Amino acid sequence: MSGRVEGKKAFITGGAQGLGAAMARMLASEGAKVSIADINHAGAQTLAAEINAEHGEGIAFAFPLDVTREDQWIYALEEADAAMGGISVLVNNAGISRGGDIEQLSFEDWKLVMSVNVDSVFLGTKHALKYMRQNQPGSIINISSIAGLIAAHNSPVYNASKAGVWLLSKGIALHCAKQGLDIRSNSVHPTFIDTPILDPLRERFGKEVAEGKLARQIPLGHIGEPDDVANAVLYLASDESKFMTGAELKLDGGISAM
Ligand SMILES: NC(=O)c1ccc[n+]([C@@H]2O[C@H](COP(=O)([O-])OP(=O)(O)OC[C@H]3O[C@@H](n4cnc5c(N)ncnc54)[C@H](O)[C@@H]3O)[C@@H](O)[C@H]2O)c1
Repeated sequence: MSGRVEGKKAFITGGAQGLGAAMARMLASEGAKVSIADINHAGAQTLAAEINAEHGEGIAFAFPLDVTREDQWIYALEEADAAMGGISVLVNNAGISRGGDIEQLSFEDWKLVMSVNVDSVFLGTKHALKYMRQNQPGSIINISSIAGLIAAHNSPVYNASKAGVWLLSKGIALHCAKQGLDIRSNSVHPTFIDTPILDPLRERFGKEVAEGKLARQIPLGHIGEPDDVANAVLYLASDESKFMTGAELKLDGGISAM
Protein backbone atom coordinates (compact mmCIF):
# COMPACT_ATOMS: atom_id res chain seq x y z
CA MET A 1 0.00 0.00 0.00
CA SER A 2 1.42 3.40 -0.88
CA GLY A 3 1.72 6.11 1.72
CA ARG A 4 0.00 9.48 1.81
CA VAL A 5 3.17 11.30 0.71
CA GLU A 6 4.68 8.59 -1.49
CA GLY A 7 7.31 10.12 -3.78
CA LYS A 8 7.45 13.46 -1.95
CA LYS A 9 10.86 14.90 -1.10
CA ALA A 10 10.76 16.98 2.05
CA PHE A 11 13.33 19.40 3.47
CA ILE A 12 12.69 20.02 7.18
CA THR A 13 14.54 22.63 9.24
CA GLY A 14 15.10 22.17 12.95
CA GLY A 15 14.44 18.47 12.49
CA ALA A 16 16.90 17.08 15.02
CA GLN A 17 14.38 17.05 17.87
CA GLY A 18 10.89 18.08 18.93
CA LEU A 19 8.26 18.82 16.31
CA GLY A 20 10.67 18.63 13.36
CA ALA A 21 11.77 15.14 14.37
CA ALA A 22 8.14 13.99 14.68
CA MET A 23 7.41 15.42 11.22
CA ALA A 24 10.44 13.68 9.70
CA ARG A 25 9.43 10.33 11.20
CA MET A 26 5.82 10.68 10.07
CA LEU A 27 6.57 11.83 6.52
CA ALA A 28 9.09 8.99 6.11
CA SER A 29 6.58 6.44 7.42
CA GLU A 30 4.09 7.68 4.79
CA GLY A 31 6.47 7.27 1.85
CA ALA A 32 8.45 10.52 1.61
CA LYS A 33 12.18 11.04 1.48
CA VAL A 34 13.28 13.50 4.15
CA SER A 35 16.22 15.86 4.54
CA ILE A 36 16.71 16.84 8.15
CA ALA A 37 18.55 20.16 8.40
CA ASP A 38 19.58 21.49 11.77
CA ILE A 39 22.21 23.56 13.51
CA ASN A 40 22.56 20.42 15.63
CA HIS A 41 24.05 18.30 12.86
CA ALA A 42 24.87 15.36 15.13
CA GLY A 43 21.24 15.19 16.27
CA ALA A 44 20.03 15.33 12.68
CA GLN A 45 22.43 12.53 11.72
CA THR A 46 21.26 10.33 14.59
CA LEU A 47 17.62 10.77 13.60
CA ALA A 48 18.35 10.14 9.89
CA ALA A 49 20.14 6.91 10.85
CA GLU A 50 17.16 5.80 12.97
CA ILE A 51 14.71 6.50 10.13
CA ASN A 52 16.89 4.64 7.63
CA ALA A 53 17.19 1.68 10.01
CA GLU A 54 13.40 1.51 10.09
CA HIS A 55 12.51 2.30 6.45
CA GLY A 56 15.65 1.46 4.46
CA GLU A 57 18.78 3.30 3.39
CA GLY A 58 18.35 6.41 1.25
CA ILE A 59 15.11 7.60 2.86
CA ALA A 60 16.55 10.14 5.31
CA PHE A 61 19.50 12.51 5.00
CA ALA A 62 21.04 15.00 7.44
CA PHE A 63 22.55 18.39 6.68
CA PRO A 64 24.12 21.07 8.87
CA LEU A 65 22.18 24.31 8.59
CA ASP A 66 21.95 27.54 10.53
CA VAL A 67 18.72 28.94 9.10
CA THR A 68 19.95 32.52 9.57
CA ARG A 69 22.82 32.00 7.12
CA GLU A 70 22.09 32.44 3.42
CA ASP A 71 25.29 30.70 2.31
CA GLN A 72 24.40 27.61 4.37
CA TRP A 73 20.86 27.53 2.94
CA ILE A 74 22.20 27.58 -0.62
CA TYR A 75 24.60 24.73 0.11
CA ALA A 76 22.16 22.57 2.10
CA LEU A 77 19.38 22.86 -0.48
CA GLU A 78 21.74 21.96 -3.30
CA GLU A 79 22.97 18.92 -1.39
CA ALA A 80 19.45 17.84 -0.41
CA ASP A 81 18.19 18.20 -3.97
CA ALA A 82 21.00 15.95 -5.16
CA ALA A 83 20.51 13.42 -2.35
CA MET A 84 16.73 13.08 -2.67
CA GLY A 85 16.49 13.63 -6.44
CA GLY A 86 14.51 16.86 -5.94
CA ILE A 87 12.70 18.93 -3.33
CA SER A 88 8.89 19.13 -3.35
CA VAL A 89 8.11 20.00 0.28
CA LEU A 90 9.76 22.66 2.43
CA VAL A 91 8.97 22.72 6.14
CA ASN A 92 10.27 25.89 7.80
CA ASN A 93 10.12 24.56 11.35
CA ALA A 94 13.27 25.75 13.15
CA GLY A 95 12.37 28.38 15.70
CA ILE A 96 13.35 29.74 19.09
CA SER A 97 11.83 31.85 21.83
CA ARG A 98 13.18 34.45 24.26
CA GLY A 99 11.20 35.80 27.18
CA GLY A 100 11.09 39.33 28.52
CA ASP A 101 8.50 42.06 28.12
CA ILE A 102 9.03 45.04 25.82
CA GLU A 103 11.09 46.87 28.46
CA GLN A 104 13.17 43.89 29.55
CA LEU A 105 13.97 42.27 26.20
CA SER A 106 17.43 43.08 24.85
CA PHE A 107 17.89 44.25 21.27
CA GLU A 108 20.29 41.33 20.76
CA ASP A 109 17.57 38.82 21.70
CA TRP A 110 15.04 40.67 19.53
CA LYS A 111 17.35 40.40 16.49
CA LEU A 112 18.24 36.77 17.21
CA VAL A 113 14.63 35.57 17.44
CA MET A 114 13.54 37.59 14.41
CA SER A 115 16.43 36.15 12.45
CA VAL A 116 15.90 32.49 13.42
CA ASN A 117 12.10 32.64 13.11
CA VAL A 118 11.56 35.00 10.16
CA ASP A 119 14.77 35.40 8.12
CA SER A 120 14.71 31.60 7.93
CA VAL A 121 11.36 31.52 6.11
CA PHE A 122 12.46 34.27 3.73
CA LEU A 123 15.81 32.65 2.93
CA GLY A 124 14.53 29.08 2.76
CA THR A 125 11.63 29.90 0.49
CA LYS A 126 13.64 32.23 -1.72
CA HIS A 127 16.24 29.57 -2.43
CA ALA A 128 14.07 26.42 -2.33
CA LEU A 129 11.64 27.63 -5.01
CA LYS A 130 14.33 27.07 -7.63
CA TYR A 131 14.20 23.34 -6.85
CA MET A 132 10.48 23.15 -6.07
CA ARG A 133 9.59 24.54 -9.52
CA GLN A 134 11.15 21.39 -10.95
CA ASN A 135 9.16 19.10 -8.60
CA GLN A 136 5.54 20.25 -8.72
CA PRO A 137 3.12 19.89 -7.07
CA GLY A 138 4.86 21.39 -4.07
CA SER A 139 4.03 22.52 -0.57
CA ILE A 140 5.67 25.07 1.71
CA ILE A 141 4.71 24.63 5.35
CA ASN A 142 5.70 27.34 7.80
CA ILE A 143 5.50 26.59 11.50
CA SER A 144 4.18 29.71 13.17
CA SER A 145 2.39 29.48 16.53
CA ILE A 146 -0.90 30.42 18.13
CA ALA A 147 1.35 33.16 19.55
CA GLY A 148 1.47 34.58 16.02
CA LEU A 149 -2.26 35.24 16.23
CA ILE A 150 -2.77 36.03 19.92
CA ALA A 151 -0.40 38.27 21.91
CA ALA A 152 0.82 38.08 25.49
CA HIS A 153 2.25 40.82 27.69
CA ASN A 154 5.62 39.08 28.01
CA SER A 155 6.56 37.69 24.60
CA PRO A 156 6.83 40.60 22.17
CA VAL A 157 9.50 39.14 19.94
CA TYR A 158 7.97 35.66 19.77
CA ASN A 159 4.56 37.21 18.98
CA ALA A 160 5.99 39.56 16.35
CA SER A 161 8.16 36.91 14.71
CA LYS A 162 5.37 34.33 14.49
CA ALA A 163 2.91 36.93 13.19
CA GLY A 164 5.52 37.71 10.54
CA VAL A 165 5.64 34.04 9.55
CA TRP A 166 1.83 33.99 9.31
CA LEU A 167 1.53 36.83 6.78
CA LEU A 168 4.72 35.93 4.93
CA SER A 169 3.16 32.51 4.26
CA LYS A 170 0.20 34.19 2.59
CA GLY A 171 2.40 36.43 0.48
CA ILE A 172 4.38 33.38 -0.67
CA ALA A 173 1.11 31.58 -1.51
CA LEU A 174 -0.03 34.50 -3.68
CA HIS A 175 3.37 34.81 -5.36
CA CYS A 176 3.37 31.12 -6.33
CA ALA A 177 -0.22 31.29 -7.57
CA LYS A 178 0.52 34.41 -9.61
CA GLN A 179 3.50 32.65 -11.16
CA GLY A 180 1.22 29.79 -12.20
CA LEU A 181 3.10 27.39 -9.96
CA ASP A 182 1.39 24.42 -8.35
CA ILE A 183 3.19 25.21 -5.10
CA ARG A 184 1.10 25.96 -2.04
CA SER A 185 2.11 27.81 1.11
CA ASN A 186 0.34 27.56 4.46
CA SER A 187 1.12 28.23 8.10
CA VAL A 188 0.62 26.00 11.14
CA HIS A 189 -0.22 27.46 14.55
CA PRO A 190 0.26 25.13 17.52
CA THR A 191 -0.25 25.98 21.15
CA PHE A 192 1.99 24.38 23.82
CA ILE A 193 3.29 21.02 22.60
CA ASP A 194 5.37 18.57 24.61
CA THR A 195 8.87 19.21 23.21
CA PRO A 196 12.21 20.41 24.65
CA ILE A 197 11.17 24.01 23.88
CA LEU A 198 9.16 23.84 27.12
CA ASP A 199 12.18 22.72 29.19
CA PRO A 200 13.06 26.19 30.59
CA LEU A 201 9.55 26.39 32.04
CA ARG A 202 9.75 22.85 33.42
CA GLU A 203 13.11 23.66 35.01
CA ARG A 204 11.68 26.81 36.61
CA PHE A 205 8.49 25.33 38.10
CA GLY A 206 8.97 21.55 37.95
CA LYS A 207 7.37 19.38 35.25
CA GLU A 208 3.97 18.84 36.85
CA VAL A 209 3.37 22.44 37.94
CA ALA A 210 4.65 23.85 34.62
CA GLU A 211 2.50 21.58 32.47
CA GLY A 212 -0.49 22.21 34.77
CA LYS A 213 -0.09 25.97 34.29
CA LEU A 214 -0.04 25.54 30.51
CA ALA A 215 -2.92 23.04 30.47
CA ARG A 216 -5.19 25.46 32.36
CA GLN A 217 -4.92 27.91 29.45
CA ILE A 218 -6.18 25.31 26.96
CA PRO A 219 -9.91 24.49 26.65
CA LEU A 220 -9.13 20.82 25.91
CA GLY A 221 -7.30 20.73 29.25
CA HIS A 222 -3.86 19.45 28.24
CA ILE A 223 -0.82 20.34 26.15
CA GLY A 224 -0.42 18.75 22.72
CA GLU A 225 1.77 15.89 21.47
CA PRO A 226 4.33 16.32 18.66
CA ASP A 227 2.28 14.01 16.42
CA ASP A 228 -0.70 16.39 16.70
CA VAL A 229 1.41 18.84 14.69
CA ALA A 230 3.09 16.19 12.52
CA ASN A 231 -0.35 14.98 11.39
CA ALA A 232 -1.21 18.51 10.19
CA VAL A 233 2.13 18.72 8.36
CA LEU A 234 1.45 15.32 6.76
CA TYR A 235 -1.89 16.62 5.44
CA LEU A 236 -0.32 19.85 4.12
CA ALA A 237 2.58 17.97 2.51
CA SER A 238 0.22 15.54 0.77
CA ASP A 239 -1.93 16.22 -2.29
CA GLU A 240 -4.99 15.83 -0.03
CA SER A 241 -4.60 19.55 0.67
CA LYS A 242 -4.19 20.48 -3.01
CA PHE A 243 -6.79 23.31 -2.88
CA MET A 244 -5.45 24.81 0.33
CA THR A 245 -3.05 27.72 0.06
CA GLY A 246 -2.57 30.96 1.98
CA ALA A 247 -4.38 29.38 4.91
CA GLU A 248 -3.58 28.89 8.58
CA LEU A 249 -4.12 25.66 10.46
CA LYS A 250 -4.60 26.13 14.20
CA LEU A 251 -3.73 23.29 16.56
CA ASP A 252 -4.49 25.10 19.77
CA GLY A 253 -6.83 22.92 21.79
CA GLY A 254 -9.50 25.58 21.40
CA ILE A 255 -7.59 28.63 22.72
CA SER A 256 -8.45 30.89 19.79
CA ALA A 257 -12.12 29.95 19.97
CA MET A 258 -12.43 31.84 23.26
N1 LIG B 1 6.56 23.13 21.22
C1 LIG B 1 5.71 24.13 21.29
O1 LIG B 1 5.05 24.34 22.32
C2 LIG B 1 5.49 25.03 20.10
C3 LIG B 1 4.28 25.74 20.01
C4 LIG B 1 4.07 26.59 18.92
C5 LIG B 1 5.03 26.70 17.93
N2 LIG B 1 6.20 26.00 18.05
C6 LIG B 1 7.19 26.18 16.98
O2 LIG B 1 7.50 24.91 16.44
C7 LIG B 1 8.84 24.89 15.95
C8 LIG B 1 9.59 23.70 16.55
O3 LIG B 1 9.59 23.84 17.95
P1 LIG B 1 10.00 22.66 18.94
O4 LIG B 1 9.04 22.71 20.06
O5 LIG B 1 10.21 21.39 18.20
O6 LIG B 1 11.40 23.27 19.46
P2 LIG B 1 12.75 22.52 19.90
O7 LIG B 1 13.50 23.54 20.67
O8 LIG B 1 12.44 21.21 20.55
O9 LIG B 1 13.48 22.22 18.52
C9 LIG B 1 13.94 23.27 17.70
C10 LIG B 1 14.97 22.72 16.73
O10 LIG B 1 15.43 23.82 15.94
C11 LIG B 1 16.84 23.77 15.88
N3 LIG B 1 17.36 25.13 15.67
C12 LIG B 1 17.40 26.16 16.56
N4 LIG B 1 18.01 27.22 16.02
C13 LIG B 1 18.37 26.85 14.75
C14 LIG B 1 19.03 27.52 13.69
N5 LIG B 1 19.48 28.78 13.81
N6 LIG B 1 19.21 26.85 12.53
C15 LIG B 1 18.79 25.57 12.40
N7 LIG B 1 18.17 24.89 13.37
C16 LIG B 1 17.96 25.53 14.53
C17 LIG B 1 17.29 23.17 17.20
O11 LIG B 1 18.60 22.63 17.12
C18 LIG B 1 16.20 22.12 17.42
O12 LIG B 1 16.53 20.88 16.81
C19 LIG B 1 9.44 26.26 16.34
O13 LIG B 1 9.33 27.14 15.24
C20 LIG B 1 8.53 26.73 17.46
O14 LIG B 1 8.50 28.13 17.61
C21 LIG B 1 6.44 25.16 19.10
